Amino acid sequence: MIDPTFLDTPLYRCEALEPDLGCSVSIKLETANPVRSFKARGTELVASLLVDNGARAAVCASAGNLGQALAWSGRRRGLDVTVVASRFAPATKLHRIRALDARLELVDGDFDLARERAAAVARHDGIRLVEDSLDIETCEGAATIGLELVDAAPSFDTVLIALGGGAMATGVGHVMKALAPDVEVICVQPLGAPAMTRSWHQRRVVTTESTNTIADGVAGRRPIPAVLDDLLVVADDAVLVQEASIINGIRMLLDHAGLVVEPSAALGIAAILENRDRFAGRHVVTIVCGSNVDLDAYHRWIGAAPTGRP
Ligand SMILES: Cc1ncc(COP(=O)(O)O)c(C=O)c1O
Repeated sequence: MIDPTFLDTPLYRCEALEPDLGCSVSIKLETANPVRSFKARGTELVASLLVDNGARAAVCASAGNLGQALAWSGRRRGLDVTVVASRFAPATKLHRIRALDARLELVDGDFDLARERAAAVARHDGIRLVEDSLDIETCEGAATIGLELVDAAPSFDTVLIALGGGAMATGVGHVMKALAPDVEVICVQPLGAPAMTRSWHQRRVVTTESTNTIADGVAGRRPIPAVLDDLLVVADDAVLVQEASIINGIRMLLDHAGLVVEPSAALGIAAILENRDRFAGRHVVTIVCGSNVDLDAYHRWIGAAPTGRP
């Protein structure tokens, strides 16, 4: 069901990153596609099944990338897509959602407020609410990244996964536990948006009052209980990283890998930077999961004085 343009993405050793990171590093590149993130793997499934079942419209809340992906998948299948997003989301994400013919509604608050509003729109319009990470198709779509990793040779020790709502971590993690149980599954979140990571450590849902991070793609405050249950089964660890490390990761991916990435996609590199001893001598795969950045912000991060080793 997934358009091949989103599948079989590059996976390669990036030796140029290795001297600074002290371990073998492979990149799974999820940005070279029409929506510049992995999210379309899931929305392709969602939209196919909806249209097969006769649906004409759907609504989702989005930090920006899911909305863009659902708009792309919906447009080519004649599905009317409404996206509810924060008006503080990166302008480029909002622009692309509109450009892909979705109806965009902005809320004067964060992603979790957008979730509430999307649910209200679904109730009012009598249309399907697509809930990222809760709807199993969004996790299964992301899980195809895991299938591709397992198929790939040579083997690796650890996969680092950016953790937001949890679709990618539960999807990829499930595949790893089923097909490559020796691979360590480590989720990474910013210290400024730690709700799911804290929940994983405390084995119960922990919410936060606010978020404060440049990694807009993973900045949620209210973990979904069912997703936490799944994450508890498939993740080996969940770690938090500092903003300075995320910025260093963004810069390193540009400098050593020639990749423009959004902050969420640099979380894996940030985790290695903060835990060199833990990863020393290991072969680590990091999923470079999105590249939708506002140029001004990106130049600020790239131009910022090097922050040194955390
Ligand atoms: C670029 C990027 N990375 C990571 C994530 C987090 O993924 P998930 O919500 O599946 O945990 C998102 C979510 O939208 C994203 O857009």
